[in-house]
Amino acid sequence: MTINGVTSSLSALYLLFLSLSLLTRVALSAPAQDDHLFKNQHIMWKSLRATDRLSRSRRLESWERNTGGASNRRPTKKYGTMDSYGGMKLSMSRSLIASNATLTSATEGNALIAFRNSMQTDPTGALANWTVENIPSYCSIWRGVSCNPTGNVIGIDLPELELNGTITPMIGDLVHLEFLNLSYNHFWGPIPSELTRCQNLSGLDLSTNSLNGELPELFSLPKLELLYLAYNNNLSGPLPEFKRCESLTDVWMDSTNISGAIPSSLRNCQNLVLLSLATTNLNGSIPVSLGELHKLVQLWLGYNKLTGHIPSELGLLKNLKVLDLGSNNLEGSIPPSLGNCSSLTALFLDTNNLEGSIPPSLANCSSLEVLYLRLNNLSGIIPEEFGNMTGLILLYLDSNHLSGTIPASLGNLTKLQWLDLTTNNLTGSIPQELGGCLSLKHISLADNNLTGGIPRFLGNFSSLVNLFLGYNSFIDNAVAISILSQCSKLETLGLQRNKLYGSLQFDFFTDFPSLKYFSVAGNMLTGGIPSSFSSGVPSSLIIVDFRRNKFTGELPGQVDSTYLPSLRFLYFSDNQLEGSIPPWIGNLKSLQVLDLSRNRLTGPIIPQDFHNLSGFKVQPESEDSSIGEAGVLYLYTFNPLASSLNVSFNYAIYKADTRMDLSSNALQGGIPQEIADLVGMKYLNLSNNNFDGEIWSGIQNLKALETLDLSRNNLSGRIPSTISSSVNRYNVSFNNLDGPIPSGGQFDTFTDISIYLPGNPRLCGAIIHRPCDKVPDTQIFHVSDFISIPGFGIGVAGGFCTVLVTILVWAPARLFVFRPAGKRKEPSAYGLFKFRFY
Ligand SMILES: *[C@@H]1O[C@H](CO)[C@@H](O)[C@H](O)[C@H]1NC(C)=O
Ligand SMILES: *[C@@H]1O[C@H](CO)[C@@H](O)[C@H](O)[C@H]1NC(C)=O
Ligand SMILES: *[C@@H]1O[C@H](CO)[C@@H](O)[C@H](O)[C@H]1NC(C)=O
Ligand SMILES: *[C@@H]1O[C@H](CO)[C@@H](O)[C@H](O)[C@H]1NC(C)=O
Ligand SMILES: *[C@@H]1O[C@H](CO)[C@@H](O)[C@H](O)[C@H]1NC(C)=O
Ligand SMILES: *[C@@H]1O[C@H](CO)[C@@H](O)[C@H](O)[C@H]1NC(C)=O
Ligand SMILES: *[C@@H]1O[C@H](CO)[C@@H](O)[C@H](O)[C@H]1NC(C)=O
Ligand SMILES: *[C@@H]1O[C@H](CO)[C@@H](O)[C@H](O)[C@H]1NC(C)=O
Ligand SMILES: *[C@@H]1O[C@H](CO)[C@@H](O)[C@H](O)[C@H]1NC(C)=O
Ligand SMILES: *[C@@H]1O[C@H](CO)[C@@H](O)[C@H](O)[C@H]1NC(C)=O
Ligand SMILES: *[C@@H]1O[C@H](CO)[C@@H](O)[C@H](O)[C@H]1NC(C)=O
Ligand SMILES: *[C@@H]1O[C@H](CO)[C@@H](O)[C@H](O)[C@H]1NC(C)=O
Repeated sequence: MTINGVTSSLSALYLLFLSLSLLTRVALSAPAQDDHLFKNQHIMWKSLRATDRLSRSRRLESWERNTGGASNRRPTKKYGTMDSYGGMKLSMSRSLIASNATLTSATEGNALIAFRNSMQTDPTGALANWTVENIPSYCSIWRGVSCNPTGNVIGIDLPELELNGTITPMIGDLVHLEFLNLSYNHFWGPIPSELTRCQNLSGLDLSTNSLNGELPELFSLPKLELLYLAYNNNLSGPLPEFKRCESLTDVWMDSTNISGAIPSSLRNCQNLVLLSLATTNLNGSIPVSLGELHKLVQLWLGYNKLTGHIPSELGLLKNLKVLDLGSNNLEGSIPPSLGNCSSLTALFLDTNNLEGSIPPSLANCSSLEVLYLRLNNLSGIIPEEFGNMTGLILLYLDSNHLSGTIPASLGNLTKLQWLDLTTNNLTGSIPQELGGCLSLKHISLADNNLTGGIPRFLGNFSSLVNLFLGYNSFIDNAVAISILSQCSKLETLGLQRNKLYGSLQFDFFTDFPSLKYFSVAGNMLTGGIPSSFSSGVPSSLIIVDFRRNKFTGELPGQVDSTYLPSLRFLYFSDNQLEGSIPPWIGNLKSLQVLDLSRNRLTGPIIPQDFHNLSGFKVQPESEDSSIGEAGVLYLYTFNPLASSLNVSFNYAIYKADTRMDLSSNALQGGIPQEIADLVGMKYLNLSNNNFDGEIWSGIQNLKALETLDLSRNNLSGRIPSTISSSVNRYNVSFNNLDGPIPSGGQFDTFTDISIYLPGNPRLCGAIIHRPCDKVPDTQIFHVSDFISIPGFGIGVAGGFCTVLVTILVWAPARLFVFRPAGKRKEPSAYGLFKFRFY
């Protein structure tokens, strides 16, 4: 790590904040299986990102667990470093004080006892020596207490001790107190305003506790240098005026509930180096007076409710390295003056309502490594000058309205690892010069209007992990896809909704050893499905999507499913595939979504051993039940101060509802009873085939089932009288069922007769106005007549009418179901409706 100059003592803090902040900048970059889905994913992304703190902190927790715990997300700065500010001297060793044990004050002793007495639990016994008898020796044997040579308490240092209690107001009696560190405990209750009596207080760290109430007038403490109150989620009220803060250097209050505006009295804090107020409830505008804080190195105001414009005065901050205004409600344009912040290494203005064009002057920030402008309303072109920012490691401009072409000058960005231009209006082809960005790991150009071919130079990108080129108009032969196999680290390859043609080689997947996500959905690919799912080496594939192409022939027959241990999503729908369903599909242990619909598959289902589909036996916990299908998301953290951007890249795939869609083929035979073993199944669509036989009653075992569509087959016999109470979409119309329509239970919730009729001439029941004692014994309808009418609406004889039935109305509708995202920016979340549908 490069640590430089004045900020050396801050660098750790800096890293930490960056990673913290970015950690939750959950970057979803993957357009997945189809348009609806893509939209849903963005919404999902939104809801994760602009979310309540709860889910944020959940993410943090899980991250911490993976990366060695809380210590990582914490400034490593110690009080000892305060010497450099001319502040307290920790050199007063405890042994010195110990020998002066009798020099203690009764007032202070009482205050300490009161502190101890306001503790509910002390599981580590840290305060065991804090007893009345021991008062005379509080300077020596009381853990965490330090005194000055005259026996006055100047420090209490009790972090990470699982202490549970309140902070006694009597702490105000410790008038000589210079530092108080109670971080990483379980303190609750308010911060006592009596603390302001400790006029020599210079370091106060109460972070990561459960304190609540409002902030006392801490900024009236003349010597306060460090104030850490972060991660006290219930700490509320406004920020006090910054009355006497000339000593203040570091303020860290992230993840608190402080609200109201940022006082412009902040200008009094001329020595402020770090101001971190991210993830709070602050609103109002960004005070112009911030531009007067010339020593400021880091300014974190992300994840708040700030409104108004970005003050151009921020351009006066020559020492500023990090400017984070992301995830607010800022509007107006990006002030060109920010280009004067010559020290800037990271700029986050994402997730606001910023508009206008991107000022080319930003390219003057020659130290910039991270430029994060995604999710705004920015328009105009990507400035040619950006090619001058040769230190750039991450460039995220996605989800704006940028137009024009991708500037060739970006090819000068040899350090660039992360390039995301998704969801803009970019046109033209990918410039050949981009081949110079040999460090690229992540490229997403999806959802633009890009044309031309898939550049062959991509094959030289040996670090490439993710490539998303979907939702464009790339025209190329499938051979171009094969060239990407030279990128041996490639995990995600999204090429959906382009104009790719030609056929994939039969051993296609053998060439992609790390591939997890593969989608060519919505192209014009022809020929057979590659048969190389298994090459005798366990494959990393999780999602494979061949939907909406012109693939022909049979599904590969000879595949050993044990080599596909991770395959969860398998899509073949809307092709011209023939033959029967090969048995190996029934052996895919992790499979959760199988979509073979709208092909020409024949024969009976099934894979004898359908019961080996273990993935269908458990209903995965959906992170968000509105996500109907799989999605991909990335969690990343990074540290722009490190000599190389150390991105930790977590690949997460949304768990989706278990779905099986075999509809609109020519499958025949009975519905295999084995399906009843798939107790986690939520969606089962066998409609529009030639299935015959009865609907076995075992279907009631599918307790998680929500959608059951058996319509348009030749099923006969009676409708089983029990069905899971979770079923809310049900359809058996266009069959030859007979007998009474069951009543009671879930059936009483089905009121739409179109789920029974037309077809089924011998069904009876009140709901279809056909009393069971008058069942006609001859067929009124010829089912086949209706099957031949696509998109039908039918008038019916017999004194009743059927309503218009829309074929499979719910299947697509389901995909559109989404939940409004988090607390803000709903409109722009729905702006993602711009996705085109088939
Ligand atoms: C307080 O203690 C914690 C834990 O030891 C430490 O990480 C932190 O830096 C300390 N606070 C200050 C302001 O030094
Ligand atoms: C309590 O004091 C004794 C010396 O009297 C010392 O050895 C011990 O470590 C102290 N305990 C704590 C928790 O500080
Ligand atoms: C006790 O403190 C005084 C100053 O208050 C100092 O002069 C004296 O040397 C100390 N005693 C010992 C034993 O260190
Ligand atoms: C505060 O610190 C100053 C200078 O270090 C000292 O002179 C003064 O006595 C201290 N005040 C208290 C109440 O300890
Ligand atoms: C403190 O302890 C009490 C009782 O043991 C418990 O109910 C409470 O949740 C704890 N508080 C915190 C902040 O951990
Ligand atoms: C914050 O307050 C809410 C309700 O007042 C409570 O449910 C929650 O547990 C508190 N959180 C913490 C961390 O104390
Ligand atoms: C946060 O503060 C707002 C008022 O600004 C209040 O409505 C809300 O309940 C507080 N939340 C918590 C968790 O304390
Ligand atoms: C800021 O929030 C406070 C409550 O926390 C509210 O009273 C005030 O109107 C808000 N101000 C703006 C400008 O939204
Ligand atoms: C920045 O880029 C522009 C256009 O790409 C170029 O004309 C100019 O010389 C560059 N400036 C520097 C300082 O490199
Ligand atoms: C792209 O441009 C078209 C027409 O100019 C416009 O309708 C559309 O909203 C734009 N899309 C984006 C993402 O800006
Ligand atoms: C940057 O890219 C442009 C266009 O590709 C090129 O003309 C120029 O020479 C490059 N500049 C540097 C410093 O490499
Ligand atoms: C991009 O393509 C879409 C349709 O493919 C079209 O509606 C839109 O106008 C195009 N935008 C531009 C800027 O060309």
